[in-house]
Amino acid sequence: MENATAKLRRLFALDTCDLRRIVTDFQEEMSRGLRGEKSSLQMLPAYVGRPQGTEKGKFIVLDLGGTNLRIMKVLLDGKRGAHIEAWQRKKIPPALRRGRREQLFDFLAQTLKLFLTERSNEETSFAFTFSFPMAQKSLSSGVLLHWTKGFTVSGVEGEDVASLLAEAMKREGLAHLRLRALLNDTVATLLAASYGAPKYDMAVILGTGTNACYPEALSRLRIEPGRILKDEVIVNLEWGSFNRLPVNDYDHLLDIQSPNPGQQIMEKMVSGLYTGELVRLALLDVMGKEDNRKYLKPYSLSARKLASLATGLEKEIADVVFFRSARIVGAAIVAVITWIDAHLSDRHRVAIDGALFTGYPGYRKKVEDTICELLPEKGNRIELNPVKEGSAIGAAVACALGELQAKSF
Ligand code: BGC
Repeated sequence: MENATAKLRRLFALDTCDLRRIVTDFQEEMSRGLRGEKSSLQMLPAYVGRPQGTEKGKFIVLDLGGTNLRIMKVLLDGKRGAHIEAWQRKKIPPALRRGRREQLFDFLAQTLKLFLTERSNEETSFAFTFSFPMAQKSLSSGVLLHWTKGFTVSGVEGEDVASLLAEAMKREGLAHLRLRALLNDTVATLLAASYGAPKYDMAVILGTGTNACYPEALSRLRIEPGRILKDEVIVNLEWGSFNRLPVNDYDHLLDIQSPNPGQQIMEKMVSGLYTGELVRLALLDVMGKEDNRKYLKPYSLSARKLASLATGLEKEIADVVFFRSARIVGAAIVAVITWIDAHLSDRHRVAIDGALFTGYPGYRKKVEDTICELLPEKGNRIELNPVKEGSAIGAAVACALGELQAKSF
């Protein structure tokens, strides 16, 4: 009889054929999403293109990720250099992730006010990195489509996040500040990497959540060009919601016990918030009733803890789960890069942020190996580069581009 870990290995395996299928299905969903047809990839235009590297100025940045709120002052020197001059980080209290919208937005405005009063501040332009799916009609506004990463704050889905923030800022006496850019963290990461060096064609986040973006030709998008100054627009794939993947019983269990069943299927197989939970569900299953008591509490195994293990059953099972995540990511990167350049005539840089990529031992290599498995001759034309502070620096870049957009019309 097959032993328990061999069974798990089989359940979480993706062979080359499965990966090829993922690439084809992914591109089919991209193409449907771009045409405005029903698709699990939302393909959301961000109303901004890549920068030149010459943009300059000092900007205030608000960054709401899955776990923390950060406020920063970022300097862009106009010569591809960026520097974070001041910053403050606050953990988002768990109750605020599930509460009412006024509580969350007042928390944002109050933290921003405190940051500004503690420093003499002359800047009036600011940008807001909001790491959730938004439908945008301009660079400075966006409607939240649905919450992810365990957030369930009421009264925000279907609303313009920029207006909610503006109302809270007014309550705090901050009405003089101008929101120049509202952007997703993937978009910020691509802007930050492209500001620092040319040839970045994609950004990926592998943290609490997962997602990616790439620059698309304006002509392939169904949007009014409006104030866009370039012939390309960055598209937020929202790849966490891609759903044409082979799921097993553990994926299914995790999904039905989550606050958003049926949604974010790829995210639930890939990102840091869920990989630990899949490991826990698998351990609970393979351990005898006597031994599984320490795995009874949902979401008690963090990706960070699993990344620190050297040997043992937990480590073995974690590798199975995390390396499947890396293979899905490798296939999805191949899908996006070969969408941009089918024959890989050029070299392409991919900016990657998030603790999974560099934090889980062997993860990065698995992603790279998967790319080469799918593209045996040209896989090395895709260069994966970890970036840091993308959501802060990229938001400052978006702010500079937003000021330019505002001046030109
Ligand atoms: C969100 C994305 C975000 C990603 C990484 C996902 O849950 O839907 O908008 O980019 O997490 O933070």
